[in-house]
Amino acid sequence: MEVLNAMTRLAVIGAGSMGAQIAQQAALGGMDVTLQDQEPSQLHKARQSHHGHLLRRVEKGKLSQEDADAAIDRVHTTTDLRAAVEHCDFVIEAVFEDVDIKRLVFRELDAAAPTQAVLASNSSTIGISTLADATRRPDRCVNMHFFYPVLVMDLVEIVRGPQTSDSTVARALAVAREMGRTAVVLHKEIDGFIVNRILHAATQEAYRLLDAGVASFEDIDTAVEKGLNWPMGPFRLGDLSGLDVTYNARRHMYRSTADERYKPSPQLEAKVKAGKLGRKTGEGWYRYEK
Ligand SMILES: NC(=O)c1ccc[n+]([C@@H]2O[C@H](COP(=O)([O-])OP(=O)(O)OC[C@H]3O[C@@H](n4cnc5c(N)ncnc54)[C@H](O)[C@@H]3O)[C@@H](O)[C@H]2O)c1
Repeated sequence: MEVLNAMTRLAVIGAGSMGAQIAQQAALGGMDVTLQDQEPSQLHKARQSHHGHLLRRVEKGKLSQEDADAAIDRVHTTTDLRAAVEHCDFVIEAVFEDVDIKRLVFRELDAAAPTQAVLASNSSTIGISTLADATRRPDRCVNMHFFYPVLVMDLVEIVRGPQTSDSTVARALAVAREMGRTAVVLHKEIDGFIVNRILHAATQEAYRLLDAGVASFEDIDTAVEKGLNWPMGPFRLGDLSGLDVTYNARRHMYRSTADERYKPSPQLEAKVKAGKLGRKTGEGWYRYEK
């Protein structure tokens, strides 16, 4: 088994909702991180959110000003993918959920990152074998699925593809640990991994109840929150993660399994088509103050 450096030099590709927080969490764990995005505005937004999150922690007395400053300094940003990865040990890709874009990014990463570097994808739905064969290092490719918001959610699902090596899984586990996150390993590539499979089953049932007029979405959320002790019901959670994300994941599951149980609810589809995507657009199932 390979021995890890004291601290992994990490590159995170894509500075959206997930990438920005993955980079920040890694920096809080003491790692040196380069955060890359093709859009300078996304990098600017990420930096601002880092300052905001850390300032709140300092104000609450959860973090010293010194540690906050150090975490900010550990994240370097660039629009240049080659520069981002040329000296790294480990890459986490978090670009748009689009197979063609991700394959392109993986091909570029393979050409630019050191041969021994691991290429991990944070995709929620795309198994690593679909991306690994765009590279010459399929044994060093792995899914590493974080949860939103990464700064709060402790879990990482590490999913090995048919060609992922034991040492790659060990390195992904070590990176999760360095970031202060708890990891589980899936030995098989499977749609939805563990958490989303279970969540989808429960959410799908909630939509079935809504579509059948059994109860309002508010009451279904209340039932789940009070009766199952989940911190959030499925509709409130959908608004938080983005109804487009929920919808696309469902459509992907439906297409890949042809299982009617995964067919997206017409009411969910209507929300997405109307651009009511949840918190990020100010309205989804619920309305939010800007
Ligand atoms: N949002 C969630 O709740 C969630 C949870 C777990 C996993 N994921 C996965 O994380 C990934 C990112 O999701 P997100 O919600 O952060 O998306 P997002 O749309 O917020 O961010 C994607 C970022 O990728 C950048 N990007 C796109 N193409 C690029 C390229 N070629 N090179 C560099 N940057 C590029 C975009 O500019 C954008 O900043 C997806 O694969 C998604 O499935 C999302």
